[in-house]
Amino acid sequence: MIPVITIDGPSGAGKGTIAQMLAIELNWNILDSGALYRTLAYFMKENSISLENFKDNQDFLKARFKVSFDPGTPGEPVRVIFEKQDITHIVRTEEMAKITSNLAAEPLIREFIKPCQREFVTAPGLIADGRDMGTVIFHDAKHKIFLTASAKERAKRRQTQLKRQGLKVNMRTLLKELEERDKKDIEREHSPLAPADDSVIIDTTNLNPKGVVKKIKTYL
Ligand code: DC
Repeated sequence: MIPVITIDGPSGAGKGTIAQMLAIELNWNILDSGALYRTLAYFMKENSISLENFKDNQDFLKARFKVSFDPGTPGEPVRVIFEKQDITHIVRTEEMAKITSNLAAEPLIREFIKPCQREFVTAPGLIADGRDMGTVIFHDAKHKIFLTASAKERAKRRQTQLKRQGLKVNMRTLLKELEERDKKDIEREHSPLAPADDSVIIDTTNLNPKGVVKKIKTYL
């Protein structure tokens, strides 16, 4: 069986960075499921597809929705490739995050994306980053990590990330939006954000990425 390591947790807990470091070190495949949802939101927007006409366009979406990820360079976001284009910076904006958070609460969308996520399991292994990787999508995964950190620390990290992309954001707005999204992700009916019973929970508030990876390796 191809091994899968799931890394779940709220925005800014360090999932992307840690998933990237592990994928590069192990030379495993990477699934950034948040970016997959973001890409679907972007693709729907580009093609004027809404929840109302989603079913009518499902065949079109299925045929065209082929996303791949490149772990890229440490410190840079995992790269999102769609229709031969690098759309990393298009989908990793706060505006797309907001749209995506609403879409991701919809069972129709989650069902659509489920098989797309499982296609990423290829040898020698997969690092799966998201919210429900360990609880739903890769329920049988042997290794499950749940990363968490204080909301303030997570907003700070997000701000640094956005600054690096040349985007200016107000810290207070960022924190408010992050808490709103957390609430939505945690309280939604379908696949809410929660640690799997058999996951290892790591609080990354006072840890640097190397420290987190060290903890994970000890566990593995
Ligand atoms: O990790 P992210 O910020 O790129 O995720 C974008 C949105 O997608 C976020 O609101 C949570 C949602 N999401 C989800 O519901 N399930 C996943 N497995 C991954 C992300």
